[in-house]
Amino acid sequence: MKRLQRLMTGLAMILCLQMQAQTSQDAKMNAFITTLMKKMTLEEKLGQLNLPGAGDITTGQASNSDIAKKIKEGKVGGLFNIKSVAKIRDVQKVAVENSRLKIPLIFGMDVIHGYQTVFPIPLGLSCTWDMPLIEKSARIAATEASADGICWTFSPMVDIARDPRWGRIAEGSGEDAYLGSQIAKAMVKGYQGDDLKKNNTIMACVKHYALYGAAEAGRDYNTTDMSHVRMYNEYFPPYKAAVDAGVGSVMASFNEVDGVPATANKWLMTDVLRNQWKFKGFVVTDYTGINEMIDHGIGDLQTVTARALNAGIDMDMVGEGMLTTLAKSLKEGKVTMQQIDMACRRVLEAKYKLGLFEDPYRYCDENRAATEIFTDANRKAAREIAAQSFVLLKNDNKILPLKKGGTIALIGPLADAKENMPGTWSVAADFSKSISLLSGLKEVAGNDAKILYAKGSNLDADSIFEVNAGMFGKALGRDSRPAAEILKEALAVANQADVIVAALGESAEMTGESSSRTNIEIPAIQKELLQALLKTGKPVVLVLFTGRPLALKWEQENVPSILNVWFGGSEAGSAIADVLFGDVNPSGKLSTTFPQNVGQVPIFYNHKNTGRPLQEGKWFSKFRSNYLDVSNDPVYPFGFGLSYTNFTYSDIKLSSASLKGAQTLKASVTVTNSGSRDGKEVVQLYIRDLVGSITRPVKELKGFQKIELKAGESRTVTFNITPEDLKFYNYDLKYDWESGDFTIMIGGNSRDVKSADIKWVK
Ligand code: NOJ
Repeated sequence: MKRLQRLMTGLAMILCLQMQAQTSQDAKMNAFITTLMKKMTLEEKLGQLNLPGAGDITTGQASNSDIAKKIKEGKVGGLFNIKSVAKIRDVQKVAVENSRLKIPLIFGMDVIHGYQTVFPIPLGLSCTWDMPLIEKSARIAATEASADGICWTFSPMVDIARDPRWGRIAEGSGEDAYLGSQIAKAMVKGYQGDDLKKNNTIMACVKHYALYGAAEAGRDYNTTDMSHVRMYNEYFPPYKAAVDAGVGSVMASFNEVDGVPATANKWLMTDVLRNQWKFKGFVVTDYTGINEMIDHGIGDLQTVTARALNAGIDMDMVGEGMLTTLAKSLKEGKVTMQQIDMACRRVLEAKYKLGLFEDPYRYCDENRAATEIFTDANRKAAREIAAQSFVLLKNDNKILPLKKGGTIALIGPLADAKENMPGTWSVAADFSKSISLLSGLKEVAGNDAKILYAKGSNLDADSIFEVNAGMFGKALGRDSRPAAEILKEALAVANQADVIVAALGESAEMTGESSSRTNIEIPAIQKELLQALLKTGKPVVLVLFTGRPLALKWEQENVPSILNVWFGGSEAGSAIADVLFGDVNPSGKLSTTFPQNVGQVPIFYNHKNTGRPLQEGKWFSKFRSNYLDVSNDPVYPFGFGLSYTNFTYSDIKLSSASLKGAQTLKASVTVTNSGSRDGKEVVQLYIRDLVGSITRPVKELKGFQKIELKAGESRTVTFNITPEDLKFYNYDLKYDWESGDFTIMIGGNSRDVKSADIKWVK
């Protein structure tokens, strides 16, 4: 007891010292910025709020560019998506040598899932359910980006998304607030490390605040509208988790919230973000987010800009409304000097925290650029991480893993498509260096297997669709021959093989920004190819590329083996081959529900029960909540993913079935690897609050553990549950738990769970 007391006192002292050090650092920063701001003119202050795109500055010409003129006049606070140390150094030089106050610029970039070493798209990454791995991917991304001059990334994107029509579902971590929050924390930690001043850490920017993933009908940039209870319980947690993890900046979303665009929404930006969540960093708009409010219909540029500042926005991306209208608004009393000062201070604070005032060239080290980017070690990590993100959806007759022998026919428009492997938002990737599935298979199989290849079909029958889905250097090289001829060639190749690997699905730019779809199936022409391949009677493995949950009912019913590989990054081809040949046993678990068809959307595991739930085991009953034409079931539930081995779960053992107050409930299961291969399993904990003051979801993820078991090995997995895990925002938005009955569920996905009931009172 005494030892515990001494330990507690010691910890309290360390905490106290840390707080004192932080306060004195803050005081130093405040004094520095106050002194600087005293020297600044109004125009120079507004300049700090201005974040133009870099345009196409070429190395050595920075001082003559249009942007340089503005920088010299103190009209630029930072630049984004400018790449390379040489260019960044050139531009920074203009700021710190030729502007009156020599204030350094901040350099941002969309470093979304890796820099030049590209990791799986975020939706894929989330399927690893592996926080250390996700943190590592962000750490490597930060190291590479900072070695190339970047000190600020527009990531993580944490928008909860339940609508696979929305193309940007690819950029987030799926449908669940708990999983999304863990990932938000891991990413912020990975980017920012423990000290933003280090030259290999960068400032994160959590986006898109808020609710962007709930765009109506899945159409990008569309309106969102939801209850505050839903916002707080189901959509806000990942943004808040990023704030709690110390994220340095926040990006406003394009959509409206409660009828006011987020960029002008004072409740969102000030009441919630700053007052309730105590966010201390700065808020940047999204690209022309201020100007777009003219089209939203809430005023002219001067009006909407003043509204943005009044709401709590600090920096204006691209649109220059702040630079050009705020002086007038100040004169007319529409904004105050205090508000402008506050925004300017927050931007300067970010630069201070990054150490840019001490050394504006902190991130401009040519040596680092030459040695720390796309290294063998980083590529190795990307390959390992990619393999963890793949989700085995079906594997009848154990077709997978493939033998490294015989003849394998690799067929499909995504088979030899290295430019597409990094996926959407890979602005720093060098596509010539990424690994296609064809070369990955050849590399991993070595001389042991013969790999044949044919394209089989174009991405889509419609060439215009294909152009739109092949942007940013990711075209698939359309084959101009008649479709029948391309197919015939593929069947001739397939007929020579022992097994067929069909590389089908979406191209990289079929998801991402402005890539919404109303049809979420594999394009028809590819499905025809798949049907023809199945008709050969040979075993067929579908290697599915996608950035969204697709409707795969037919595939699930007809294709024996399906491996979903998302877009795995620069090393995707090798990683897929590692899994196909069994060098890595797949362990990814879905972070989104896969529907039967688009009509079921939005479909998500943590829905409410309704007053007329469908009885278990039935798929239609008159006057119940269901459809006439399909059951309520998804094709693959949230949390689902197979392995080359099998895991069995014991019943749940509880430390008590009746609890009172702040106790800890221990809920355990024994998981056994009952197959013949070593493997990893994500053991998932769900809780249902059976009776509440407001309606509660049928289950909610509350914990998970990723474990590794040798063939035949068993392990007891225990979850420690406290009242903290039972809390939710009630009708009055008070965050608390309520006494009552709960069901504890543990399993390998959200559908197949063991359950046990408890009572827990205050
Ligand atoms: C618009 C996108 O919505 C946002 O995610 C991105 O960071 C900015 N453009 C900057 O490229």
